[in-house]
Amino acid sequence: MGGQSQTKTKFTKEEEAQAEIDVWKYVFGFTDMAIVKCAIELGIADVLETQDEPVTLEDLSSLLGCHTSPLHRIMRFLTNRGIFKEDVTTEEGGHICYTQTPMSRLLRRGGDKSLGAFILLESSPPMLAPWHELSSRVMIKGSSAFEGAHGEDVWTYAANNPTHSKLINDAMSSHARISVPVIIEHCPEVFEGVNSLVDVGGGDGTTLQMLVKAFPWIHGINFDLPHVISTTTNYEGLENVGGDMFVSIPKADAIYIMWVLHDWGDDECIRILKNCRESIPKDTGKVIMAEAVIDLEEEKCKQLANVSLMLDMVMLAHTTNGKERTTKEWASILNAAGFSSYTFKRIQAVQSLIIAYP
Ligand SMILES: C[S@@+](CC[C@H](N)C(=O)[O-])C[C@H]1O[C@@H](n2cnc3c(N)ncnc32)[C@H](O)[C@@H]1O
Repeated sequence: MGGQSQTKTKFTKEEEAQAEIDVWKYVFGFTDMAIVKCAIELGIADVLETQDEPVTLEDLSSLLGCHTSPLHRIMRFLTNRGIFKEDVTTEEGGHICYTQTPMSRLLRRGGDKSLGAFILLESSPPMLAPWHELSSRVMIKGSSAFEGAHGEDVWTYAANNPTHSKLINDAMSSHARISVPVIIEHCPEVFEGVNSLVDVGGGDGTTLQMLVKAFPWIHGINFDLPHVISTTTNYEGLENVGGDMFVSIPKADAIYIMWVLHDWGDDECIRILKNCRESIPKDTGKVIMAEAVIDLEEEKCKQLANVSLMLDMVMLAHTTNGKERTTKEWASILNAAGFSSYTFKRIQAVQSLIIAYP
């Protein structure tokens, strides 16, 4: 023990003082998510979006139908974080008033470009429970934090709990409405010559609706588990097919698969990818994957790389074998699934595109 204390790292007084300040963000870090969730549930950003002028605290509380005093404290917290903007009205004895910021606009419950639904999913009790099981997931090989909390994996849980399934589908579609337009704008060539496209694990079909609208020559097949497909709406140019990607995938010119492979371990991904390969023409087919590529993001955009690392922790908590992968790890499963070549395309989104050819 004596020898150990000799090798103990010495820190400066300044470093220790800084750590004593920084540690509070871990003690109370959950308040950021909790207060943002509360703001989304109250619909604060949705109400501000409907107003042309800054809204006073009194008007905001009456529009939301809530009490002024707690709302004031919540708004003080959120303006301190730069989520809303606070001003004072110009008349004598001016009143506190609030306006939207680019960040608060992303925190609406609805709307085209908002991740409110995603925050409501991640902060929901079923998604928070597995985080309390995470250390046992790390200690016991093959154990799953989600199963530890719920007794079944995330997709079986969703199939048995329609309210939770809707939370997942709404969250995925909110993210798709932000990321798919970036893919359409920056990679249109990927969809040239593709007359039919299957979206494997396509959720409620939001992604395919956008792709079919942008590239109207495509016939889209939205493919997902039967309990997901049973709740989707019909859209022109789109077919909804229920099934299991581990069994078989509908045939098409190309396959699109976004944020599905990261839910699974390497062996499962190889099975899914082999099924994808079998469903496309050997000479002209392709599989278009939209997934995080950890080292590519590190190279091109450090802030998005941080998102990928958080997403990797989400995979650790919510899936049994899922993970975010590096270029080398993607190459390894694509080779094992028998693809002859593949390319990586970095875009300004959490995911990159990986295009693989049979
Ligand atoms: C993380 S979500 C991604 C949804 C969508 N691709 C997106 O990015 O918006 C994963 C999807 O895979 C689907 N899924 C899970 N297991 C599946 C299976 N065995 N066969 C087909 N789809 C499956 C889920 O129902 C879910 O919609």
